Amino acid sequence: MASKTPEELRSHRWFGVKDLRSFGHRSRIKQVGFASEDYAGKPVIAIVNTWSDLNPCHAHFKVRADEVKRGVWQAGGFPVELPAMSLGEPFMKPTTMLYRNFLAMETEELLRSNPVDGVVLMGGCDKTVPAMVMGATSMNIPTIFVPAGPMLRGNWRGNVLGSGSDTWKYWAELKVGNITEQDWEDIENGIARSFGTCMTMGTASTVASMVEALGLILPNASSIPAADSAHPRMASMAGRRIVEMVWEDLKPSDILTEKSFENAITTIMAIGGSTNAIIHLLAMAGRAGIPLGLDRFDAISSRTPLICNLRPSGRYLMEDLWYAGGLKALLSRMTDLLHTDQMTVTGRTLGENLADAHVSNDDVILPRDKALSQQGGVVVVRGSLAPDGAVIKQSAMEKRFLTHTGKAVVFADYNDMAARIDDPDLDVTADSVLVLKNAGPLGGPGMPEWGMLPIPKKLLAQGVRDMVRISDARMSGTSYGSCVLHVAPESYVGGPLAFVETGDLIALDVPNRRLDLLVADDVLAARKAAWTPPPPRYVRGWGVLHSDSVTQADKGCDYAFLEGNAPTAEPEIH
Ligand code: FES
Repeated sequence: MASKTPEELRSHRWFGVKDLRSFGHRSRIKQVGFASEDYAGKPVIAIVNTWSDLNPCHAHFKVRADEVKRGVWQAGGFPVELPAMSLGEPFMKPTTMLYRNFLAMETEELLRSNPVDGVVLMGGCDKTVPAMVMGATSMNIPTIFVPAGPMLRGNWRGNVLGSGSDTWKYWAELKVGNITEQDWEDIENGIARSFGTCMTMGTASTVASMVEALGLILPNASSIPAADSAHPRMASMAGRRIVEMVWEDLKPSDILTEKSFENAITTIMAIGGSTNAIIHLLAMAGRAGIPLGLDRFDAISSRTPLICNLRPSGRYLMEDLWYAGGLKALLSRMTDLLHTDQMTVTGRTLGENLADAHVSNDDVILPRDKALSQQGGVVVVRGSLAPDGAVIKQSAMEKRFLTHTGKAVVFADYNDMAARIDDPDLDVTADSVLVLKNAGPLGGPGMPEWGMLPIPKKLLAQGVRDMVRISDARMSGTSYGSCVLHVAPESYVGGPLAFVETGDLIALDVPNRRLDLLVADDVLAARKAAWTPPPPRYVRGWGVLHSDSVTQADKGCDYAFLEGNAPTAEPEIH
């Protein structure tokens, strides 16, 4: 592979030339205590770190950044740490999704405006992964992603607890008196036992796995538990490798192709990944200038077996996947479904990276003939209620709802739902279809994870644990149930969801990929004519930029002005 000279480094424009401005740059680096031997002629490696006291999933990142730096120094680079906004799922309201594109912009502009030649991205908690990849893809300098890694398994009196999934499960049991307040507190104490991301196959583990399949993460790194000593070793390996990538000039544009995105989709389907991954992958492809539509996901889902036995679709957790051989081992079971000739950050192809993979537990990584399903976990449905598509995780729902027609029980927005869902007088049965409006990219705003609407308390008491639920919201990757999500166009902008009324019949037909509102055209037309658009959600600040620019779920919810791979000019250095 071609090798750069020091004079060809991007940072040379700041440090290497002889003028007044470069004097300032050099003297200010020396101000921090670095001599010219530390930086002159070396690749400057940005470590974009999303550590925060309010992001427990990234609590180890202060230390990990030092471990990345160790690798960069070892390989002859000059590491510089650049903090970036941390999107901590547990605390940010109304939703981190409102800020995914904010972090993407911040990542891109941090890299553009500073004297850096390559970047190690440090993220993990859901949106941080796509956000940083989107930004680095647009900037297109050599990039490696270091994923935060999953936390350890949860534990409650010897029972294994999974992030999110077991929260919803035991909350329902508490509501109907099957567990005590003390049990609930003990679960609270045992469900998050270490730093790291949610350890079910939720959004964080899904997006890390898909970015590894894309080729931007070192082989198997997405599966390493955050608290395992393999994790810091991986971090310093990433530091060494990024320096080599700068000399090789191996950039995201050399790695991100239509085929590598297909590998990522195949991976999402094989692991029973989060529905959120679809939105993020669409946005990431948009940054790479690669057209991907929802239908591509459905086509690949149809041919991809679900062989990862992890919650919420299956039984185990990320720690088990690691012991079973990790993502590498899983991908080695399906090389015929992957484009193994695709380049990765190692400088080798995906197929070459998988050559030494080994499955050590067939109950975690299932043989193809024992797959949880012969189709992928997520499918796309369309119809009169979702002309631009919606998604449903068929692997994590009660199978009797795959084909279902029921009467709608409509909630105008989240507050309406919260106020009425447990009302004993709510006219609802186990066959009803719960509908939530105004929870989309604009209406939420930010498309919060409200899509797993709670089961009404009176039905919980009857033993009901799943119902068909429909919204333009997203759903946590750790959630489960017959939840139709991402309905596009959303209700807030006048999509058909806006015109559903309580009592309407809705038909869901997953095998035939249909979602239809069974209401006569003239009735719908009259409702549409009487509809008034809701007022703007924001009158100033970030929310205005979001509202003016965000695309719908089927397009990835990026900002229209950030899409595409047209080059942005490098800054003038004056
Ligand atoms: Fe951070 Fe789930 S809350 S990954």
